[in-house]
Amino acid sequence: MTLPVIPEPAKNPPTLLVIDDEAGPRDALTAILRPFFTLLAAESASAAIDILNSRPVDIITLDQKLPDRQGLDLLQEIKHDHAEVEVIMVTGYGSLKSAMEGIRHGAAGYLLKPFNVTELLSLVNQTVEKKQRLDFLRHFLRTSTGLWGSESEGAQAWQQLLTGYQAIGKSTHEPASRCESTPSQLLPLLSDLLEAKDRQLLNHCSRVSFYATLLANRIDLTIAEQKSLALGAFLHDIGKIGPETYQFAEDEIAMSGESVGNRLHPELGGKLVLPLGLPAEVGQIIAYHHERWDGSGYPYGLQEEGIPQLARIVCLAQAFDHLTAELPGRSPLSIDDACQHMRAHAGTHFEPKLTELFTRVIQECKACLPAMATATTPAD
Ligand SMILES: [Fe+2]
Repeated sequence: MTLPVIPEPAKNPPTLLVIDDEAGPRDALTAILRPFFTLLAAESASAAIDILNSRPVDIITLDQKLPDRQGLDLLQEIKHDHAEVEVIMVTGYGSLKSAMEGIRHGAAGYLLKPFNVTELLSLVNQTVEKKQRLDFLRHFLRTSTGLWGSESEGAQAWQQLLTGYQAIGKSTHEPASRCESTPSQLLPLLSDLLEAKDRQLLNHCSRVSFYATLLANRIDLTIAEQKSLALGAFLHDIGKIGPETYQFAEDEIAMSGESVGNRLHPELGGKLVLPLGLPAEVGQIIAYHHERWDGSGYPYGLQEEGIPQLARIVCLAQAFDHLTAELPGRSPLSIDDACQHMRAHAGTHFEPKLTELFTRVIQECKACLPAMATATTPAD
């Protein structure tokens, strides 16, 4: 029998880097946080990069305005080159909007100046715990093969994962939930797994769930089906948390079929979630979201009504996101162009009636969509 994986409590205090060119806020932060961290400080973006390239750093507090770079710009470089470092944006009221933009680019939170000590310590503690959770999951994904084994091996691996995950941040080991917990109990773990693999994967899955649920009220779905649609859309690419490096849209580039890429992920994802006891519709969405109306999709070549309706909806939602999201080396389509492109594939890639409804609903909601569609960070 395999013993549960319990994360070791950190033996050394985490390292926190304060990036701020103004002595006042820098000194305030270092004075408050010194008892809990090994503290480093940088007065510019270039000095911060030098530190990051020379030694391990766990958490960063990042001022918005630096003499040589904007904080948001530096955040993106840090999340690209040092994805495992968690960043807290530090901001005044005047630049709050850009700090919130930082959250969409992977910042763990933002802190308003002047600092409220209680809020500061609370946010920093939450961020330390988040990093512990993601580090644990990254290590698990790199080293455990059980998740990808037989159903019984998978069930055992999920139980280990859940036990270790739930132990983080607890001083005593309370009994862990069973892996057949309710979806809402499992959601934090599943969301963190996507983020541990790649923040961009989490962003994509979140947006696809949002787009898919826009349709939920426009068609005749039961409440249970609506819930399965939201969860299945969120987990549709869970098969990509496997050992292969996540490549956004490698297989779905603009649904044109030009790139073959990773065609295993729907099947892998469907098998991966089997031990969790999720509703059958959720597994179907994961397994069938790349099937096409005319039978030319993968991995099973299902067609028309043979593809479950919820999977047909998620197929549309994920294609829309691939068309409109900012990706490395490719310009996103406008919402109108993306809808036009999708209508051109109605009857081949997509169910005609759903395509008409989806593109109509998307255009009705257009005002709130552009900001979501640009919330990606480079994956490679
Ligand atoms: Fe996919």
